[in-house]
Amino acid sequence: MLKTHNCGELRATHAGQQVTLAGWVHRWRDQGGLVFLDLRDRWGITQIKVDQQTAPDAHALAKEVRSEWVIQVTGTVILRPDGMQNPDLPTGDVELAVSELKVLNRAKTPPFYINKDEKVEEALRMRYRYLDLRRPAMQSNLVLRHNVIRFIRNYLSERGFVEIETPILFKTTPEGARDYLVPSRVHPGKFYALPQSPQQLKQLLMVAGYERYFQIARCFRDEDQRGDRQPEFTQLDLEMSFVEREDVLDLIEGMMTRLVEEVTDRELVTRPFPRLSHAEALARYGTDKPDLRYGLEIVDLSAIAGQTEFRVFADTVSAGNPVRAICVPGCGTYSRKQLGELEEIARTAGAKGLAWMAIEENGDVRSPIAKFFSEDQLKAVVERAGATPGDLILFAADTETVVCDVLDTLRREMAARLDLADPNKVAFCWVIDFPLFEWNADENRWDPSHHLFTAPMWEDLALLDSDPGKVRGQQYDLACNGYEIAGGSIRIHDRAVQEKVFGLIGLDEAVARERFGHMLEAFEFGTPPHGGIAPGIDRLVMLLAGEPNIREVIAFPKTQQAADLMAGAPSEADLKQLEELHIRTVVGENER
Ligand code: AMO
Ligand code: AMP
Repeated sequence: MLKTHNCGELRATHAGQQVTLAGWVHRWRDQGGLVFLDLRDRWGITQIKVDQQTAPDAHALAKEVRSEWVIQVTGTVILRPDGMQNPDLPTGDVELAVSELKVLNRAKTPPFYINKDEKVEEALRMRYRYLDLRRPAMQSNLVLRHNVIRFIRNYLSERGFVEIETPILFKTTPEGARDYLVPSRVHPGKFYALPQSPQQLKQLLMVAGYERYFQIARCFRDEDQRGDRQPEFTQLDLEMSFVEREDVLDLIEGMMTRLVEEVTDRELVTRPFPRLSHAEALARYGTDKPDLRYGLEIVDLSAIAGQTEFRVFADTVSAGNPVRAICVPGCGTYSRKQLGELEEIARTAGAKGLAWMAIEENGDVRSPIAKFFSEDQLKAVVERAGATPGDLILFAADTETVVCDVLDTLRREMAARLDLADPNKVAFCWVIDFPLFEWNADENRWDPSHHLFTAPMWEDLALLDSDPGKVRGQQYDLACNGYEIAGGSIRIHDRAVQEKVFGLIGLDEAVARERFGHMLEAFEFGTPPHGGIAPGIDRLVMLLAGEPNIREVIAFPKTQQAADLMAGAPSEADLKQLEELHIRTVVGENER
């Protein structure tokens, strides 16, 4: 080793010892006869003192050294003089009085500061990701990620799970996104699809008798990118045989609880994890991934609003649609301008306007629509909304979907403004009882609301024929702090039921056999009842790290445009390669 200790290790108890350190120059200060260097490695920072009197050669070299040079130093650990200790640094009681200094590698001036927590344009960070990853904050994120994965591996291994790798070159595994295709050289005109998840393979491992499987699995989905989405991402993929929903939920709830407690210093605020039916989640929070760190719950005011003289509300209710609201504490003093901003936000979520009522200190209601309400109706609204003086009630009147979207958006917005979403808190909840299908009006067919292997509630089986929209799925989502963290289900393990579901979602028999024949066939060879789940590792680590997007917890992520700016991927292929793959591109030069 080129070092005897790391840069985060030395304490007062090491005083007097001769040690060698190696790392990057974090900062340097030339004080003439003395040069001070902060030496950094993955474990921390140690102050290095190079004295012209005692080490003239080292001192001459130290004068040349600049940020990010890689150096090795040997010297004696000494206590810093009184008053010169740095309480912010674990090594702040000592410094290294250097006798020898060796430059291992020089560095150009980096394109951004590594020794300052400054906002740097993300494209630049991505272009020089290896420098970005040197920053202590990024290193701590990746170490956290490692600790999370190690915890998961241990937790599951201790409970009889086997980690099994499944292929990356496979066949379409539909999870609702577009596939990434890989052309085959050996089979002209044919393609592998990269798995959107190992869904089919893990089910086949259950048919194969493994009973408890997991994998830290890379998944590939060609879909529009957002802050919490990447074209390739990592799941903890998991499947169990002879289980019911409760067994999967118990396992994951236990794992997440201990993970947060043992690997992070975040506060788990919902224990046991609350369970919301899909309908309840939408009614109370407007979303199936609610943030339970704060209240601001939605209240339904349709009954009252429908009786009022306010046309928008009355018409909405008579058309069978809802009028709902949230009550925001302390915002009753909002100005017209502030309310105008909120209306704009509501409009981006689909609202046609934003009716509001502010409760004044004396209990009076200030609102452009108050004149359409009787005294009693106003009182009823205020009471139902739980509003007290100083509060602001925000209304949405529209179709069910729009009302949910608008109030979900406003709820998140107001929580952010009021600082209600404490980043130190972790609030998990289960969402269950999803409908098995969603109606796809464009295609005139049912779409699976999770994926096409999800089992219906056994008691709803008969409805598959009579009323598919009423069938509930044995599906569950785990939400945390407003994100969907995991999704899973008990699966269909019966060929006839699987074929019926294929039919309902408009997969014609021949196509179903071509794509999923291996699954249908496997179901005829003794398939145990089984189910599983897949938490998204990137999203989980993002939340545990308190980061705003998953790129902060992935070593080499893609941009929003699914590009790698460091290596320049994707890139064009040689003509020769394309020929071997039997591929001709049709993109014109100017489209590239
Ligand atoms: P699902 O599609 O719900 O389920 O995905 C499970 C979890 O994976 C994460 N996730 C993503 N993370 C980052 N970028 C993406 N593009 C992305 N897409 C999904 C989310 C999500 O909750 N095979 C099923 C699981 C099962 O049924 O067992 C599946 O993949 O955190
Ligand atoms: P109007 O009478 O159309 O001027 O609307 C009165 C108030 O109701 C305004 O503040 C509008 O922004 C608001 N409003 C209009 N349509 C809706 C709607 N669908 N939901 C909630 N508020 C609305």
